[in-house]
Amino acid sequence: MIPKAFVQELLGRADIVDVIESYVPLRRAGSNLVACCPFHGEKTPSFTVSPTKQFYHCFGCGAHGSAIGFLMEYVGMGFVEAVKDLASRCGMKVPEVAPSPQEAARQVQSEELTELLQRAAQFYKSELKRSEKAIAYLKGRGLTGEIAARFQLGFAPSGWQNLAAAFSDYQSKALVDAGLVIQSEDKRYDRFRDRIMFPIISLRGQVIGFGGRVLDAAEPKYLNSPETALFEKGRELYGLFQARQAIRDTGRIVVVEGYMDVVALAQYGIGYAVATLGTATTASHLQKLLRHTDEVVFCFDGDAAGRRAAWRALEGSLTQLRDGKQIKFLLLPEADDPDSFVRREGKAPFERLLTETALPLSTFALKELTARADMGSAEGRARFVQEAKPLVKQISAPILGLMIRKRVAELGGISQAELEERLEWRPTSPPVAASQRAPRRAPDAYARLLERILAEPKLIAELLPLTLPSPPARSAEASALFDLIEEYRTLDGELTVAGAIELLRGRGHGVTVQSLMSVVHELQRFSAEELLVEVRGSVRTLLSEADEARRVQFMEGVSSPAELSEEARTLLTRAPAASSTVKSH
Ligand code: UTP
Ligand code: MN
Repeated sequence: MIPKAFVQELLGRADIVDVIESYVPLRRAGSNLVACCPFHGEKTPSFTVSPTKQFYHCFGCGAHGSAIGFLMEYVGMGFVEAVKDLASRCGMKVPEVAPSPQEAARQVQSEELTELLQRAAQFYKSELKRSEKAIAYLKGRGLTGEIAARFQLGFAPSGWQNLAAAFSDYQSKALVDAGLVIQSEDKRYDRFRDRIMFPIISLRGQVIGFGGRVLDAAEPKYLNSPETALFEKGRELYGLFQARQAIRDTGRIVVVEGYMDVVALAQYGIGYAVATLGTATTASHLQKLLRHTDEVVFCFDGDAAGRRAAWRALEGSLTQLRDGKQIKFLLLPEADDPDSFVRREGKAPFERLLTETALPLSTFALKELTARADMGSAEGRARFVQEAKPLVKQISAPILGLMIRKRVAELGGISQAELEERLEWRPTSPPVAASQRAPRRAPDAYARLLERILAEPKLIAELLPLTLPSPPARSAEASALFDLIEEYRTLDGELTVAGAIELLRGRGHGVTVQSLMSVVHELQRFSAEELLVEVRGSVRTLLSEADEARRVQFMEGVSSPAELSEEARTLLTRAPAASSTVKSH
């Protein structure tokens, strides 16, 4: 547990501009800095960073947060890790309440693993320089030294214990834990021998594992690191670290099957390709991808395995579909993979396939499903509807889901109403992200208050002496506001925008805050004094509404006049701009 007060102090000292700028180039625009949003693809910048308020916000996709939030969302750090990273940037020491022994052990272990893997990657890289055979292999596959360097390619020489030259203690258990060395009953030897090495690099730029390819026709063709504390295959994507800039430039990611496909595409100028690690595409892969872009194209080899893989990727994608995001599928011509295609045809024809031939997920799904059934007969159509059902039910994107249900009904030869009612094709529960929901209703007084507090956190002092009435059915904004007040009461020190965002995120209100951020941004134009007047106005509305409710209850004999709040009376008689708690800018 990291003390909250420390987090607030840290946010006060750190500079969000430095943090973000170390990942995304920023450009000055007035008092803020802007960039094309790293969380979704776009051509004109709507991602802004406020140096004075220490938060970022994207008008396009609603992404927002403090410096800590950025490290978590963009770099993929955990909270503790992000706090530590930020603290080390400004020379602060995290006053950690002692971690549990297991936690401490895990931490030491992953730091140690990172170091071992990094050292191994260095070793493999220098071995590549010395091996004519390996260099000739890569050249033969059309790669330049520049691309090999970009992907930090290396070579594990033949022989059983080459790593003994790179590590002082070849017997260390850590080498086994890192997946570099295999311990059998009586001997210990390098996992990777006589293979081209492809380091797998995390979004933080650290080597977390390897894929190794033989140079001839030996089996297995590729050998991968086992899963370790650092390396979880179902979450990682090969090439994502190297692809970040190209993804931002084009607003697109193409997901291919092989390491070599990624490298070859980059060689031919398509830098936005990534690959799964010899595993099926999972929902968490897709979640990660959609954080970086609005358009994901799955590109599979034109063989039976490619088609199966495409279908598995489709199944993994359904729950991640969002209106406004595009997921497409491209099956290459028979016997091609992206590597062979781009080498033969070049960049432009490959990109033409992506834009012209790739099918939107819905089209691809319906095409596959109709191909499997005899659509000319009632039985075949019934089977089609039956098979489509479990897939379509997983789609939570409202608009897309509706359109697909319509299309299934059409193809199945029944009405949409019959499909939805008789066959119980009702969509599943709404998606988690509030940003995907219908536009917010007119903001209530609680939302207005919260917006103003976020724009000028010092105003929270206005609310402390009051007991705000709980609304009958608490809105998301109301409960966020109550939680923020509660957090602030135990905080000693001033509340800042970044601090408030962080406290709210910590209490699970990230989505609510996201829906308010555009307004908050607008409100920054007003002075603290103007905002104070508005805050007082909202408070008055709330208290008088509550009093009115009590008055009604009293007249109906439910409550007594004594319950009319004291705060309400004082506040109602107080003049708006007469407070000294807030100074204007
Ligand atoms: P492919 O056999 O299509 O590989 O396997 P590729 O990248 O086209 O290889 P080249 O062009 O022959 O060099 C696709 C991916 O499946 C995983 C690897 O991640 C590979 O990149 N794979 C394949 C394995 O993990 N092990 C294997 O034995 C084969
Ligand atoms: Mn290939």
